[in-house]
Amino acid sequence: MSKKLRIGAIASGGGTNLQAIIDRCADGSLQAEIVLVISNNPDAGALDRGKRAGIPTLCIDHRHYSDREDFDQQIVAALKTAGADTIVLAGFMRIVTDTILNAFPQRVLNIHPALLPAFPGLHVQRKALEYGARFAGCTVHFVDSGVDTGPIIAQAVVPVLDDDTEQTLSARILIEEHRLYPHAIQLLAEDRLKIDGRRVRIEPTASPLNTTLINPPLSDKE
Ligand code: GAR
Repeated sequence: MSKKLRIGAIASGGGTNLQAIIDRCADGSLQAEIVLVISNNPDAGALDRGKRAGIPTLCIDHRHYSDREDFDQQIVAALKTAGADTIVLAGFMRIVTDTILNAFPQRVLNIHPALLPAFPGLHVQRKALEYGARFAGCTVHFVDSGVDTGPIIAQAVVPVLDDDTEQTLSARILIEEHRLYPHAIQLLAEDRLKIDGRRVRIEPTASPLNTTLINPPLSDKE
């Protein structure tokens, strides 16, 4: 049975992923309500996006806290007060501690602009380019106590083009992030995600993808 999620969103930057989620909530394709937007950055565009959508927003500036635990405790208190049941990290550039994970077990999601487990961490579009990968993409995963290591819910793949720069590749990935994140969150809203060790099973099973991607593409004769 589907249930409307009560999302607490945490973001550090411009908030385009947050905007995609706001938009999908507004058009009804995502059965969720964003009950609070938190940012650690007072200048984050994400706070403006939240305000424009009429969502309560809160800045909890990490620089005002002596340790990570204390900072995360403030975040948890605000999320609980707002009645959030699902935490969506949308470009949150801080490592979350067990304080948040234990308060919302298996309910913290993240989007990462790489095909995990390749390229965890920062500046990953540049790293994919420098490595010479032929494909890049993005991953939505449950958050665990590692850095970008939690069970994978969904991934989108984009080609890396010969003339790509970090900017063009990032932009191509970001377009897919905006589609992938609401899709993954909706699967959670429909209670279709079953964590089985490292694997996340979708129940009932989604129609299998049966396309193989090859880059550079084969010629018609191959
Ligand atoms: C997105 O590309 C997101 O995947 C990335 O930050 C960007 C935020 O953009 N997140 C991470 O790198 C997390 N480690 P946005 O503020 O426009 O949504």
